[in-house]
Order: sequence, then C-alpha cells, then structure tokens
Amino acid sequence: AQNARESLYIVSQFAANFFEDHLWNNDEGRAIGLSYFKERGFREDIIKKFNLGYSPDVWDALTLDALKNKHTEEYLEKTGLAIRNDKGKLYDRFRGRVMFPIHNFTGRVIGFGGRTLKTDKNVPKYVNSPESDIYHKSNVLYGLFHAKKAIRDQDNCYLVEGYADVLSVHQANIENVVASSGTSLTIEQIRLIGRFTQNITILYDGDAAGIKASLRGLDMILEEGLNVKVVSFPDGDDPDSYMHKVGAGEFKAYVETKRQDFILYKANILLAEAGTDPIKRAGIIRDIVESIAKIPDNIKASVFVRECSGLLGIEERILLSELNTMRVAKL
Ligand code: CTP
Ligand code: MN
Ligand code: MN
Ligand code: MN
Ligand code: MN
Repeated sequence: AQNARESLYIVSQFAANFFEDHLWNNDEGRAIGLSYFKERGFREDIIKKFNLGYSPDVWDALTLDALKNKHTEEYLEKTGLAIRNDKGKLYDRFRGRVMFPIHNFTGRVIGFGGRTLKTDKNVPKYVNSPESDIYHKSNVLYGLFHAKKAIRDQDNCYLVEGYADVLSVHQANIENVVASSGTSLTIEQIRLIGRFTQNITILYDGDAAGIKASLRGLDMILEEGLNVKVVSFPDGDDPDSYMHKVGAGEFKAYVETKRQDFILYKANILLAEAGTDPIKRAGIIRDIVESIAKIPDNIKASVFVRECSGLLGIEERILLSELNTMRVAKL
C-alpha cells in the first residue's frame, strides 16, 4: 500500500511538471494561460512559487505524455488525472484550464484545481481532483506548505476561500494565508491550522455565502478552542479583487483595522438585521451567548461575557446565567 501511495504522488508530480512546462514553454500555454495570470495581476515569482500551470485544450495531452514516460493507466485513473470513457479509453480531466497544484503541508503535490478561461456560465469555473488515497479534500488547506513558516512566525493564520485569494494576499507579502477552497470549512482543516497557531482570522468573500460561512466557521473554530477574528469585505469583493482595487498598502491597513473579534462581528451583522425591535435584539444576545458557550476555556469565555455585556448594555450576571443554561443544555 505504501508503494501504491508513492505511485500516486509520483504521477501527480509528473502532471504538475507537465502543466507548469506548458504554461511557460508551450505557445498555447503562454498565449492563453500565462497571459491570463498576468492579466489578473499575478507576478512571475508568485506564478513560479506556487507552480501554476496550464492544461492544453485537447483530449489526452497529459495522458499520452504520462504513458510515454512509463506511468500507468492505473495511477492516472486513481489520481483522477485521467477518466475512462465508455469505450474504455482514457482522457484528461483537465483541459484548457489554468492549473493550481495542491500541495500537502510537506510540499508534495496531491491534487489540482483547474480554472476555466471561458466566461460561459454553463462551464464550471473550477474543476478539482477527486478524492484519492493521497487527496482528501476535507483535510487540505490550499497554500499551507508555503504559509506554515509565516503562520508560526506571525502566530496567526488568514483563512480565505479561494486559490486566487491566497496568491494575491501572499504576493502582498502577507504569507500566512491559506484557503479552505470554498465555504465549507471542516474541523480537520481547523485542527491542521491548530498545529501552527491558535489564532485564525477569517477573510471570506463579501457576499451572502461568505457571511454565512464566516458565522458557521467562527463557531467551529471556537469549539475547537482556537481564537477567531473576522474581516468583512464590501459586497461583491473577495480578498483578491479588493487587493487589486485598493493596492497592497491599503489592503494591509484594512485588514489590521477592520478585523473584529467574533462578538463584534456577530453583533454588527445581527444588530443591523434586527433594527430597534426589542424581541429581535433579545434573540441576538442569545445568539451571541450561544457562540460564547462553545468556548471550552471558562476564563476566556468570561472575558467575552464582559465584552458582550458592555457592547449590548446587558448585565453580566444575566449573560452568565444564560451561558450556564446553555452549557447545561449541551451536556
Ligand atoms: N470552488 C470550487 N469549485 C467551484 C467553485 C469554487 O472548488 N465550482 C472553490 C475554489 O477553491 C475557489 C473557491 O471555492 O477558489 C472560492 O470560490 P469563488 O469565490 O466562487 O471563486 P474565486 O476563488 O473567487 O474565483 P476567481 O477569483 O478565480 O473567479
Ligand atoms: Mn512549490
Ligand atoms: Mn465565494
Ligand atoms: Mn471569491
Ligand atoms: Mn475571486
């Protein structure tokens, strides 16, 4: 089994080299892929650092080259790099896309995300590698290999949604950044960050899905006993688009000054929704105390009770009794 896994790693690395080679040394790759990345504002050093690539727009370019180089159909299929059609013939999963290799935190290639260059709404924007013996989506954070040293040094991890967000933030010399690759953050991903720091700052997209995912994510992070802050972006922006809009300097200032602890973040969102309706406002208090109740450490929780009391003008002892009721209910 050890050898089988090793074979999956080896063919994945072969594919990463193939895609990277096509981005830099192939006419189609340079004209379409490399210019796409450059138009998006990614510098050559970042494109190289993350080993970005291009998959040619033909049915079996990678498959043929891999077989020619003595890789087997079995492992091409098991990594999902190739798919078998009805007639039993293999074809490439990734075609005509810019490629983001996904490294595990020791730096080995375990999968890929491929972005379409088409604006056609019927074409999926991203195609990703399927699950395999070396790629378990829920255990992976895109960018962690390139971020882990900075995460330790800064004692904080920025968490974004997407590949491009990681690249843009990293390119602005904020290297402690990883992506959950979508909005469904998992416990495993939080624990993986927890190996490097106890502090997570969520930088999700400024749309309804991003807000919803931030609220869900912060509760999960609190439950794991880690500290969490949130930065929200204007509606329609994500860290990548905002970076290009305001520039690196202003982006850094924005993230530093707009980061909110989870109570402030929740309170702002919920208070805006509730307006002056007293019943709705009472619901908000309960909602926030529910998040505090997830914090395993009592002393930490009591600090947040005090903050909540000050912010919402509710006596601490009332919040504490609410908190205790919820904790008992949880047992
Ligand atoms: N994602 C995915 N499959 C999709 C859509 C999204 O895997 N069909 C993941 C990708 O990792 C993507 C992330 O979710 O980077 C965030 O999605 P989204 O915000 O929709 O895309 P962006 O990353 O902003 O894409 P881009 O800036 O390239 O348009
Ligand atoms: Mn690399
Ligand atoms: Mn999004
Ligand atoms: Mn986005
Ligand atoms: Mn984006």
